[in-house]
Amino acid sequence: MTDVIAPHGGVLKDRRLDAAAAQAVKQSAVDWSSWDLTERQICDLELIANGGFSPLEGFLGQADYERVLKDMRLSDGTLWPMPITLDVSEAFADTVVLGDKIALRDPEGVILAVLTVTDCWRPDWAEEAQQVFGTTDRAHPGVAYLYEQSHPVYLGGPIDALSLPSHYDFTHLRPTPAELRERFRRNGWRRVVAFQTRNPMHRAHVELTFQAARQAEANLLIHPVVGMTKPGDVDHYSRVRCYEHVLKKYPEQTTALSLLPLAMRMGGPREALWHAIIRRNYGCTHFIVGRDHAGPGKGSDGEELYGPYDAQELVTRYRDELGIEMVPFRMMVYVEERAGYAPIDEVDETTETVMNISGTEFRRRMREGLDIPAWFGYPEVVEELRKTYPPRAQQGFTLFFTGLSGSGKSTIANAVMVKLMERGGRAVTLLDGDVVRKHLSSELGFSKAHRDLNIRRIGYVAAEITRNGGAAICAPIAPYASTRAAVKDMVESANGGFIEVHVSTPLAECERRDRKGLYAKARAGQITGFTGIDDPYEAPSAPALRIDTTDQTPEEAAQQVLLKLEGLGFIDLS
Ligand code: ADX
Ligand code: MG
Repeated sequence: MTDVIAPHGGVLKDRRLDAAAAQAVKQSAVDWSSWDLTERQICDLELIANGGFSPLEGFLGQADYERVLKDMRLSDGTLWPMPITLDVSEAFADTVVLGDKIALRDPEGVILAVLTVTDCWRPDWAEEAQQVFGTTDRAHPGVAYLYEQSHPVYLGGPIDALSLPSHYDFTHLRPTPAELRERFRRNGWRRVVAFQTRNPMHRAHVELTFQAARQAEANLLIHPVVGMTKPGDVDHYSRVRCYEHVLKKYPEQTTALSLLPLAMRMGGPREALWHAIIRRNYGCTHFIVGRDHAGPGKGSDGEELYGPYDAQELVTRYRDELGIEMVPFRMMVYVEERAGYAPIDEVDETTETVMNISGTEFRRRMREGLDIPAWFGYPEVVEELRKTYPPRAQQGFTLFFTGLSGSGKSTIANAVMVKLMERGGRAVTLLDGDVVRKHLSSELGFSKAHRDLNIRRIGYVAAEITRNGGAAICAPIAPYASTRAAVKDMVESANGGFIEVHVSTPLAECERRDRKGLYAKARAGQITGFTGIDDPYEAPSAPALRIDTTDQTPEEAAQQVLLKLEGLGFIDLS
């Protein structure tokens, strides 16, 4: 079967209702079911509504979905590589009948759009992951999202938007596709090369875009993604401040910056095709694809999930129906002898020296406050990133004591807190197990579910304190390893340190002390589910520090903790 394929980008969809129609919808909506959109669905909705995802007019129905998975086309044959689906819970799906209209709401309850439901099905995630990402390995962020965050039922159908999702940040940098096309037209920009990025731009990126614009004889659009990117990426606020510095490096009137509210899937080759189509919709004529475009990183076997130039190959294969031209680049590297950048395939490594600072090395240098050479990054950009990632001495941290009841957690925690306050320089908050249970978790008991919830609350508060540069000292029992791991994730994603201290005083000693008389009660059967007696304690396998208080004073124990904090760079004892 052959399809007649219209080249992409001819028609820009706009799914927004006029004011009168929007008003009518709001009145009818009282009788409809409502779905509260997830962060990713809001990103997708914005691009459906504003035409960034043209020719889509809504969330994919089942026939389109299946064909997109199988051969990257909608059922009418148009090239479209990424499934854009509305995933909902079973409970919500049970309230919906085909043909219904449902209201799609933002987290504040504002109705953003109406979906007319034409399809409802239960997808096979393994199949979707394999087809779209080429793997079911959860080390792939797109696969992990599917299995861990998606809802099990997909609804499809056209949408009509009442308004675009609201943004309060960088509003002057968020034109719709129609507005950007109009701006290009007004400025006489007939050829525009787009640069996709989810990272701060350093000299290599600027060099690459310079060369691309020269090659394509085009103006340049820096078009970073500010929707959702790879977990762990630099937040978009910091990145946009960096882009604004970088913009000054280009000759005036040659280059523009605008923000794309896309939720990336890290789909490598398929994603590159998708990015190209989106940029075509935004009025660009050329699109840069460099090394490892939209790469998901390594799989759980430690191997790269895609080859560095797979994306270029796939885009080349579909060049005739994309309606936008790719500008491919090999890896850009700094060549010492040239004091400048060049694509690796143009460098003679027998006579020339290639220099590079990996992402890991860059982060290490930031963390330790070390120098970043000017050939690598613009000083203004590095300066901006140092504010977001200060050296450890200025970062917040969470000191997390875990151990049996009576092991000495609270005593050491208190001593450490006082020592830190004596030194000054950081706000300190103690989240002691018993104190937290009095204030934050007074309604909770000691079931596994309640213990977990208690620890997660502590983790949430500790992460917020850490994010704001403070020191959170936690001293709960925290018997379960998986819950402690969750707290570690929360704290580390708040750009701070997580230091786990196992207070490993043995059970016999804790019971001998029995400072609260609880062990006696537990042994007598007056309380049940007591950690160490009839409830498990999973000892940490690799804590930053292990302290047995059997033969130590609280001062000695606290001193060990302070030395550890100094060794890690969080405090300076000298
Ligand atoms: S991506 O996920 O958006 O692709 P990133 O922001 O790092 O990540 O890359 C943006 C674009 O620049 C992609 O097209 C990528 O291939 C390209 N790129 C980034 N660094 C280099 C480099 N050193 N050499 C060549 N291309 C690069
Ligand atoms: Mg205690």
